[in-house]
Amino acid sequence: MFPKAEIIDERTIDKALHDEICHGLVECFPEEADFFTDHRSWHGSVPCFSVVLRSTDTDRLIAHAGVVDRNVHVGKDSIRVAGLQNVFVLPSHRGRNMSAILLTTAMKEASARGMDLGMLFCTAQLETVYARANWTRADSRPITCTSDGHDKPLPGKNIVMIYPLALRILPDGPLHLQGNDW
Ligand SMILES: CC(C)(COP(=O)(O)OP(=O)(O)OC[C@H]1O[C@@H](n2cnc3c(N)ncnc32)[C@H](O)[C@@H]1OP(=O)(O)O)[C@@H](O)C(=O)NCCC(=O)NCCS
Repeated sequence: MFPKAEIIDERTIDKALHDEICHGLVECFPEEADFFTDHRSWHGSVPCFSVVLRSTDTDRLIAHAGVVDRNVHVGKDSIRVAGLQNVFVLPSHRGRNMSAILLTTAMKEASARGMDLGMLFCTAQLETVYARANWTRADSRPITCTSDGHDKPLPGKNIVMIYPLALRILPDGPLHLQGNDW
């Protein structure tokens, strides 16, 4: 049986659930184990809600995505972005498109919360994973982020993908993340 997705507001995440998510993050991002052992706010970007999947057999947490609620600037406009972060499916459960359940649930909730557009940063190799859940690659425009109090260009190693919510596309203009990336 396919696991059911659970939406959890950040304010209700207790220590036990925080630890469970961190455990999965460490397993799926071993190169960032030092950070994820006790943190989930990648680059200081705190999620407003998370989506988790649990095994129907063992109740173990097997997949997760976090969503950051951020007003970013695009040209002269401000848009409310649902920033997808910390997406993982445990290795034992990959290859069954569980990420699509996570992502669809996360974007449904983002829409219910009135957000304008889903946005994520990933390596080009992962584009197909997100495309399967109807995310599309954004154009390669200049992006500025703020880190340690300083504005700087977002390092170009990742691609940007978007998901239509209230807005179908990213408006024209340079993008300023109004904080660090997620
Ligand atoms: C990305 C992830 C959530 C997708 O889970 P899934 O829906 O079960 O999909 P799969 O793991 O089967 O991967 C789907 C495809 O992406 C590829 N892929 C997955 N992770 C990859 C990675 N880190 N680098 C390159 N390719 C990757 C797989 O080889 C597979 O290719 P195929 O469809 O041609 O066989 C899962 O692979 C994962 O947790 N990876 C580690 C953490 C991670 O990279 N998260 C995304 C951060 S942006």
